[in-house]
Amino acid sequence: MAEVERREGTENLARVRGSRTAEMVAATRAGHYARAERPLIVEDPYAIHLVGERWQRVIGSSWRHWLITRVLLRKVIPTTTFVLIRARFTDDRILAAADRGIRQLVILGAGFDTFALRYPDLGIQVFEVDLAASAALKQERLAAADIPVPEHLHFVNVDFERDSLGERLTVAGFDPGEPAFFSWMGVTFYLAREAVTGTLLGVGGIAARGSELAFDYMNSRECVPESELALFDSLLGLVKSHGEPMITHFDPTAVVEQLGLAADWEVLEHDFPADNPKRYLGARTDVPQVAPLFRLLHLRRR
Ligand SMILES: C[S@@+](CC[C@H](N)C(=O)[O-])C[C@H]1O[C@@H](n2cnc3c(N)ncnc32)[C@H](O)[C@@H]1O
Repeated sequence: MAEVERREGTENLARVRGSRTAEMVAATRAGHYARAERPLIVEDPYAIHLVGERWQRVIGSSWRHWLITRVLLRKVIPTTTFVLIRARFTDDRILAAADRGIRQLVILGAGFDTFALRYPDLGIQVFEVDLAASAALKQERLAAADIPVPEHLHFVNVDFERDSLGERLTVAGFDPGEPAFFSWMGVTFYLAREAVTGTLLGVGGIAARGSELAFDYMNSRECVPESELALFDSLLGLVKSHGEPMITHFDPTAVVEQLGLAADWEVLEHDFPADNPKRYLGARTDVPQVAPLFRLLHLRRR
């Protein structure tokens, strides 16, 4: 039965645990690439090949796209702008780290990430860490689109709630003696708090001095302004109805301490894009306002 659902999901919408939201964020990047004004916030020509046929039909048709983004998903649409911003934030920081000589990239909860495809010539080994089912669905879709998996891309099956990240990564060829960039976008809120701290401990165990870590997290409800609570509740309702509830949130003033990062990691940036959207969006007005629910952290291993 699970296999049947998975096959059906390949053709229509992802139904594998973890993949439904991965598909929605890839659809956001694909829709931006297909329909937004240039210059784009982030350029992802591969995302369209990773979303199912139903999303491809939506993105390929201006009225369907309008209906989904401006009517059906209207209540949560500011979150799509945050998805684009975090993708750009991550690209920029990985590229800067590559310029500084970092040659290993670990994408935690990679979903339908396409960095390895978009930047094939950086000389970086890319380790995409995800649930086995999510990674399998991604590989099926790459194969269906005739996109070969490049040699520098390694799939590493890990369940953050159960498995040892360090062990799995070293078996896959990751070198803990060399610095790496760890990207963990769009995942922390789906995990139990212990799995978030456990995964960060795992990262700390294999991150050589000079390694970098970037991730996003969601504000706890009491830290969300009254005017944004409707958005907060709508988003939680939507992802719950898709079987992937957002269960873990943080107080921005305490998050670094609470996650046990203060001693070993220097905070390079702790950003709230909703405070200064111009930094990411410039003067553009063709995307919805930024969801004021998420923050971005960028740290360096001492
Ligand atoms: C919303 S997607 C984020 C994808 C991508 N990082 C991005 O920013 O677009 C969440 C990803 O986390 C993965 N995930 C969720 N729970 C997980 C777990 N317990 N262990 C490993 N990966 C998990 C899902 O499979 C999915 O690919």
